[in-house]
Amino acid sequence: MKYFQFLILGFSLITSCKSSITSEELKDDEQYRPAFHFTPEKMWMNDPNGMVYFDGEYHLFYQHYPDSNVWGPMHWGHAVSTDLMHWEHLPIALYPDSLGYIFSGSAVIDWENTSGLGKGDKPPMVAVYTYHDPIREKDGENTYQTQAIAYSNDNGRSWTKYEGNPVLPNPGIQDFRDPKVIWHKKSGKWIMALAVADHISFYSSPDLKDWSFESDFGKDIGAHGGVWECPDLFPIIENIGEKWILLVSLTNGGPQGGSATQYFIGDFDGSVFTPEDTVTRWIDYGKDNYAGVTWSDGPFDDRSKLFIGWMSNWQYSQVVPTVTWRSAMTLPRTLSLFQFENKKFIRSVPTGDLNSITVGELARKADMTVTETDTVLKYPEGIGSFGLDMKCQSNVDFELVFSNDNEFLKVGFDENENMYYVDRTGLNNQDFSNLFSGIHNAPRLDDRKFFEIEIFVDRSSIEVFFDGGKTVVTDLYFSDNEFTTITVTGNDLLIEEIIAYELQSIWD
Ligand code: FRU
Repeated sequence: MKYFQFLILGFSLITSCKSSITSEELKDDEQYRPAFHFTPEKMWMNDPNGMVYFDGEYHLFYQHYPDSNVWGPMHWGHAVSTDLMHWEHLPIALYPDSLGYIFSGSAVIDWENTSGLGKGDKPPMVAVYTYHDPIREKDGENTYQTQAIAYSNDNGRSWTKYEGNPVLPNPGIQDFRDPKVIWHKKSGKWIMALAVADHISFYSSPDLKDWSFESDFGKDIGAHGGVWECPDLFPIIENIGEKWILLVSLTNGGPQGGSATQYFIGDFDGSVFTPEDTVTRWIDYGKDNYAGVTWSDGPFDDRSKLFIGWMSNWQYSQVVPTVTWRSAMTLPRTLSLFQFENKKFIRSVPTGDLNSITVGELARKADMTVTETDTVLKYPEGIGSFGLDMKCQSNVDFELVFSNDNEFLKVGFDENENMYYVDRTGLNNQDFSNLFSGIHNAPRLDDRKFFEIEIFVDRSSIEVFFDGGKTVVTDLYFSDNEFTTITVTGNDLLIEEIIAYELQSIWD
């Protein structure tokens, strides 16, 4: 069965089964809505789209179905932030029309007004997205995904779809979507990375309206357990010079099963992407970071990029136990490069103004040697959203356990395997999908003799940044009750400092 037919079938099954929302379900919604992660005000959300920085605002658009809590006719929802932490919900930016649903894509500021869509001196904000025509799909055609543009002359508050749409017609390939556009300085043209079934195609344009094919990449390299989606191509400049990163999400075949995002490191000459090796790399080793891409423009240079992902997995995203809203984004992250054993990798660190939501310390311990189990924190009221930093002077086995009376969420390191892990098998609420429970192993990409670990636990997610973000694990979890206890078990683990602190809601 084709991927989107599967989604649509899932959608109709779930909506037809859903009668009315019970008070028990509503209670769960409050319990699981993240305190410090972006969620839609109501109903369904998937991929982040059109992220662009302009006039002091970070724009976040997203795949949105405002009429149900499962996937359906896609719109672009919209929110803005000035600090990448607190978000203001804005009205829906793009609605489906006669050309189809509005699938994933990107947005750019057309500084030189190459498109001619600007007004006066103000450059236009141009969204480049995929139209998915459900009627042509139903009729069995394979040309139902095309690329289109829309523009805004008022900081993304109102949008006009370009009258010449689609700007890139379908050449007869069923999966042809998710344009990510950048301005390529050296060649002075716009470059679009497009997901085309099992590879990425690059197109170029002088004006965002006329697109010419440049090259294909990826048929015989990387992970291919599912269809390729949501590419992103961008440079990162480090001391050895410019390197180009190509992010590629795939529907299936991720390191923990289901959807995940891989990346390639190489060079891009304005036409062709050349990887520097054939290593398969993952942006995140958890099961819940998908379709992530980076912001266009911004108050930063090419040394790093700002990224956000959809915190779910297509294996179970439509049945996780929330009702009035569904899905959250990851914390925004800054991406940069590091080198380990002669290979380059991406480091991700949480970004945004975390200090602004830090309420106070819950516990602090210093200079302790853990040989059995030590309690870091016992908190009678339960804590739903908190951070934990641990610095160690040794790099031996450890396990941190977040628990309540009868549930456990574990984070640890296995010295023999040289692997970190997040274990979400000890939570009660996971019967909604038999693909949810699991222990997620992640390789250590560092050989220093100490650990530095940063953990963010929200009401239904955990993000762990090991070794300063060299290995990252992002996972959802659904507990019956909030955690009240944090313990650490170690094998002669020398802890320099461990601090747990409370994080407050970004919506208060
Ligand atoms: C990725 C994806 C994209 C598509 C969108 C549809 O999660 O499947 O390829 O544009 O979601 O909502």
